Amino acid sequence: MSERLILAIETSCDETAASVYSSTRGVCSSVVFSQIALHKQFGGVVPEIASRSHLQKISIVAQQALTDAQLSLEKIDAFGVVNRPGLPGSLLVGVCFAKALALCKNKPLIAVNHLEAHIFSSFLEHDVPFPHLCLLASGGHTGLYLVHGFGDYQLMGRTLDDAAGEAFDKVAKVIQLPYPGGPELEHLAAQVNYHDFLHYPRNKQKTVDFSFSGLKTAILYDLVARGFYNLKERQLCASLSIHEKQQVASSLLNCVADIFIDKILCAYNAHPTIKALTFVGGVACNTFLRAQLTAWGQLHGLVLYTPAARYCTDNAAMVALVAYYQLQAGNCAGLQLDIEY
Ligand code: KG4
Ligand code: ZN
Repeated sequence: MSERLILAIETSCDETAASVYSSTRGVCSSVVFSQIALHKQFGGVVPEIASRSHLQKISIVAQQALTDAQLSLEKIDAFGVVNRPGLPGSLLVGVCFAKALALCKNKPLIAVNHLEAHIFSSFLEHDVPFPHLCLLASGGHTGLYLVHGFGDYQLMGRTLDDAAGEAFDKVAKVIQLPYPGGPELEHLAAQVNYHDFLHYPRNKQKTVDFSFSGLKTAILYDLVARGFYNLKERQLCASLSIHEKQQVASSLLNCVADIFIDKILCAYNAHPTIKALTFVGGVACNTFLRAQLTAWGQLHGLVLYTPAARYCTDNAAMVALVAYYQLQAGNCAGLQLDIEY
């Protein structure tokens, strides 16, 4: 089979990313410009700033992806782009850019679902058997999927309120850690060996749907009860020592690990024939959560596959992989392609 080359673009949130993917050689390049430094001072992503930054960076990032792959634009066989879900202004930048490339090079344009790209991101490095369960946990989404094949998957349960990463970011903000909170919490929890100090409540419901807002509230009320937080002023009234922050971080990670395992168990009981587990999205960077899920998988004879950290957080390599199998299936978009959010 002759080689096919895809250039994929990802601008759904606060990373401007481009990647060249080869059907025979895999990922040839993956360039990510993270906007974290731009949004840090606001404690979260500011949509207007995000779309403007995408506009400034997109062509530089795409050019870098071609340079890293040692290819010219002429060699590209198709253009993939995330058109859903995401921040509207950010999605528009990527979609317009990819449309322009497809139009001027007269090559196919492929619309990719950002969540589907995460779901199949483990295939960038592993050959995961089907069917398997995929836990997707990022800043914007948390869900469990039953994955039957490429492009063939079904949502079993999702968060009814906050995403797991969002809960991390919000709790981190309360205890005055920088954005994004997930890596900061992991760093603090590692210093106390991931001990569960505070035993936050686990809500054991027998459904596959997640809920993290109750946990966030429980943490807040625990801080109020211990005289650290003023609910009326919605801010800390006494500063937490480093050890107190470590305790919150470590206890939160333990609670989230238990919630993940509880939901995976529910899904597994409904589909005991699954052959593996995958854990994807930004939260899957977390080494403690990976270790807990790996241990659970071992108990049930299931291997847990996780992408390398650079493919857990938003990137365009995972988009290119999905674009490639969509191209093979003939699922190309027209130049009237719109965003969905
Ligand atoms: O997948 P991602 O890059 O963007 C979205 O699609 O949302 O995920 C970002 C999320 C943030 O909420 C961040 O706090 C979380 O992933 N995250 C982590 C870690 N690294 C990133 N959460 C826990 N532990 C980490 N090491
Ligand atoms: Zn994402």
